[in-house]
Amino acid sequence: MQKLRLFYCIVAAAVLVPVAAFAASAVSEGERLGRPCAGCHATDGYAPGEYIARIGGQNAEYMTKVMKDFAAGKRKGSVEMSLLAKGYSEADLAAISEYYAGKPWKNSTNKIDPKKSAAGFKIAKENGCFDCHGTKGEGMDAYPRIGGQNSGYLHEVLKRYQTGKIESEEMALVKDMSDSQLEALAQYFSGIRK
Ligand code: HEC
Ligand code: HEC
Repeated sequence: MQKLRLFYCIVAAAVLVPVAAFAASAVSEGERLGRPCAGCHATDGYAPGEYIARIGGQNAEYMTKVMKDFAAGKRKGSVEMSLLAKGYSEADLAAISEYYAGKPWKNSTNKIDPKKSAAGFKIAKENGCFDCHGTKGEGMDAYPRIGGQNSGYLHEVLKRYQTGKIESEEMALVKDMSDSQLEALAQYFSGIRK
């Protein structure tokens, strides 16, 4: 009996030591699980192009919600994101979102057309975009940051709210806008620098 107990102790120790060593390493669960994301969203989520969203420094609550929506097939038009998000549990998606949200935000470097941007500012003021997204488009909690986001992505996602591919009560206000109005809004918010 005594021998058997000793045996269990040794087995337990052999199992626990590597687990402890792993936990002590600096890599968080969100960072580990979120590594494949960098393939498209770039290191730390600072996607440099126009059409891929920046996710480094996005608001955590919004990002977690969006990832769950992708997994549930609620955001139509993005096959790659839906397939990817389905591969994770809800807890994993929250951990990945916390990880990217914890990065400091860095503004887009996309080229902005000053005329379109000025028109976008007027449309934004008239339609109360700042009421929900903040005066610099920084958002908060469930309201996404849109200031300094990449311009092509903003234009595309606005079109999806307009056509109903993504359903959102709050964003229904863009349904009556023209494509050039959406483009102007995208140019304005993308060009915000703070
Ligand atoms: C194969 C390329 C690819 C990979 C890998 C990828 N994404 Fe995406 N992601 C996209 C594209 C393209 C979009 C633009 C949105 C769309 O098309 O709906 C996007 C959009 C998003 C959005 C929405 C952004 C917003 O502001 O609403 C989030 C959040 C996101 N991705 C997070 C992730 C996370 C987290 C991972 C890793 C688990 C990941 N992505 C992996 C291509 C990718
Ligand atoms: C009543 C509050 C409210 C108002 C007003 C509002 N928004 Fe939004 N907006 C939201 C919420 C909430 C979401 C996230 C919806 C979702 O889950 O898809 C959102 C999402 C967005 C997104 C997608 C961000 C991303 O990362 O994918 C863009 C772009 C956007 N809004 C731009 C605008 C513009 C431009 C205006 C003004 C014309 C505006 N919003 C007005 C609440 C609002």
